[in-house]
Amino acid sequence: MTNRQIQLARRPTGAASADDFRLVETPAPEVADGQVLVQVEYLSLDPYMRGRMDDRRSYAEPQKLDAVMTGVGVGKVIASKHATLAVGDEVVGTFGWQTLALSNGRGVRKVDTTHVPLRAYLGPLGVPGISAYYGVHRICRPKAGETVVVSSAAGAVGSIAGQLAKQAGCRAVGIAGGAAKCRHVVEELGFDACVDYKAGNLAADLKAATPQRIDADFENVGGEVLDAVLRRMNAFGRIALCGMVAGYDGADVPLHNARSLLTNRLKLEAFIITEHLDVWPEAIAALAPGVASGAIKYRETIAEGLENAPQAFLGLLAGRNLGKQLVRLA
Ligand SMILES: NC(=O)c1ccc[n+]([C@@H]2O[C@H](COP(=O)([O-])OP(=O)(O)OC[C@H]3O[C@@H](n4cnc5c(N)ncnc54)[C@H](OP(=O)(O)O)[C@@H]3O)[C@@H](O)[C@H]2O)c1
Repeated sequence: MTNRQIQLARRPTGAASADDFRLVETPAPEVADGQVLVQVEYLSLDPYMRGRMDDRRSYAEPQKLDAVMTGVGVGKVIASKHATLAVGDEVVGTFGWQTLALSNGRGVRKVDTTHVPLRAYLGPLGVPGISAYYGVHRICRPKAGETVVVSSAAGAVGSIAGQLAKQAGCRAVGIAGGAAKCRHVVEELGFDACVDYKAGNLAADLKAATPQRIDADFENVGGEVLDAVLRRMNAFGRIALCGMVAGYDGADVPLHNARSLLTNRLKLEAFIITEHLDVWPEAIAALAPGVASGAIKYRETIAEGLENAPQAFLGLLAGRNLGKQLVRLA
């Protein structure tokens, strides 16, 4: 049995490219006392990985060169010398971009797949869904009748955030790239409106979609999208700063309307969801029934095979995904 992994071959200068990655094959690792071997079934691709490819100070260490790319996955334990994890257990953990992962069990969670597929723990019941829950309920705290804007609304996090705002009785307005994504956001996800930021009339279209202006913003994008939102905020509005994907793949995108933070007395709070583990059980318990019943809608874009992970990752940064971007490994 061999392990296949994707390593970081070099740091990008400007936008990332397929040449920044390298596929290697190594023998299957030996399992020592206290360890498990996991066959990774699905790998999650996430925008934050682009930031880790650069050597710059952040909330996490940069990705090491010539080492397996970091990433969360789900899979099955296929060998165990561990006290509490047994062969056959379905697990989620930071297994990296590889088909076989050796682990001492730290950070590896057994999950219940009675009512939901295993890969839902990478989407609506994983980091994206829990981030949406945290940003909406702990930071935006929307009241019925308010207007909540969600950027990257057709993506893994945004799609759930907008549905949670709707559940809270709000007007949910998405921002997404392209007419097809916007149709999906309104017709399938149930947002009240969606603005196509690529159509060239962002400010005017956002104004039309938010007649009562904006009370809360779930921000995934930054740059011109956040600037347009800042211009429409009501006094004492809240901004949950979840991500700034517009500036990940190259240079940071400047912000021009920061003055609105002061003139509208806004509260802006950024968060990294792995620093709020206390909220995970509550969020999963709140989201799971809707995910199981289909009341919470979510989409996945699934690339086939580890060798296609780099292209799928570049596609994610370019907006070619609808919903959660995954790679099927087994
Ligand atoms: N704080 C946390 O703990 C945490 C946890 C998870 C995710 N996040 C952040 O949440 C955001 C969404 O993550 P996700 O996993 O759900 O990814 P996603 O939204 O499913 O995928 C990324 C999307 O970003 C959009 N995008 C790329 N470049 C853009 C640009 N220049 N302007 C506007 N949109 C652009 C694309 O959608 P379009 O086609 O609509 O452009 C693309 O589909 C990211 O910023 C991520 O870093 C944060």
